[in-house]
Amino acid sequence: MAAPLQGITEHVWREAHARVCGGVARYYTPFLRMMHGEIPRREQVDATAALSESVACTPQVIACPPQQATHIVDWLVAQGHREVDINLGCPFPPVALKKMGSGMLPYPALVEQLFTALAGIEGVRYSVKMRLGWDEATQWREVMPLTEILQPAHITVHPCTGRGKEADVINHEQMAAIVAASPYPIIYNGGINTRDDIARIIERYPTLAGVMVGRGLIAHPDLTSDAGPACYRPFHDLLVEGYRQRYSQGGEAQILRHLQDLWAYFLPDAPARLRKAIKKSRTLAQYHDATTALFTTLEN
Ligand SMILES: Cc1cc2nc3c(=O)[nH]c(=O)nc-3n(C[C@H](O)[C@H](O)[C@H](O)COP(=O)(O)O)c2cc1C
Repeated sequence: MAAPLQGITEHVWREAHARVCGGVARYYTPFLRMMHGEIPRREQVDATAALSESVACTPQVIACPPQQATHIVDWLVAQGHREVDINLGCPFPPVALKKMGSGMLPYPALVEQLFTALAGIEGVRYSVKMRLGWDEATQWREVMPLTEILQPAHITVHPCTGRGKEADVINHEQMAAIVAASPYPIIYNGGINTRDDIARIIERYPTLAGVMVGRGLIAHPDLTSDAGPACYRPFHDLLVEGYRQRYSQGGEAQILRHLQDLWAYFLPDAPARLRKAIKKSRTLAQYHDATTALFTTLEN
């Protein structure tokens, strides 16, 4: 599974990845949310595009007040989606401090209200993506029994907390406990950067239904396939073409910003001076020269 990353794994990235690199069974959209009483246009466009991609793509909705969540899921179902992932993992303070994402995990009563409202919508199958807790790695224990309300197809676990000393620190003890306690298939997410990492996780948790990879797949888009480094340039070509079309109205600056955001993670082992030239580009022409130099160096 390819993990959702706001601002990166949108339609253009997902489709380019599926076509050129492959090796992913399912993609997820970055989370949808309500802003000023509506679903932002950009998120609507992305969720609609997800319906016609080469590989299955599930839209994700942030855990939020029930009226907001049901509004988004009703809209998704009306568009034709039949699967929705619920995000109980986002640690971003502007979200989590409003008791959304992983910020909802310390409040089982809110989770229960949310799940009950969502379960009332017909024609949709849910999955859940969660951390162990917001500020305590055991908060999942009160949330897990509530998943029965949703009967999720699977639960993806990023085994760390949203904040505190265990934020972003993988807690294998709690992960093992969640695998043992869950009546639903579990997918592991977090810190997978190499194929050896995948093998180690599968060996450690043999009953997993799968793994989900985020930053490691953005860094090396061939991580889950045999496409190899030869896929980097054609993959990137498709991204450039896709962003040119998608953001043509925002002009060169917007296209450039999306491409440069990718390079926060993409090909981290490439020579630093070539990566720096990409980040310093001010025009698409400069960007083109800088990326051409980098791919040529990697290919020789
Ligand atoms: C920039 C960024 C944006 C993210 N956006 C989302 C999101 O929209 N929904 C979500 O469930 N997780 C989101 N995540 C978390 C990732 O999906 C994933 O759970 C996390 O990065 C751990 O996996 P990894 O170590 O393989 O990257 C985001 C992470 C990053 C770094």
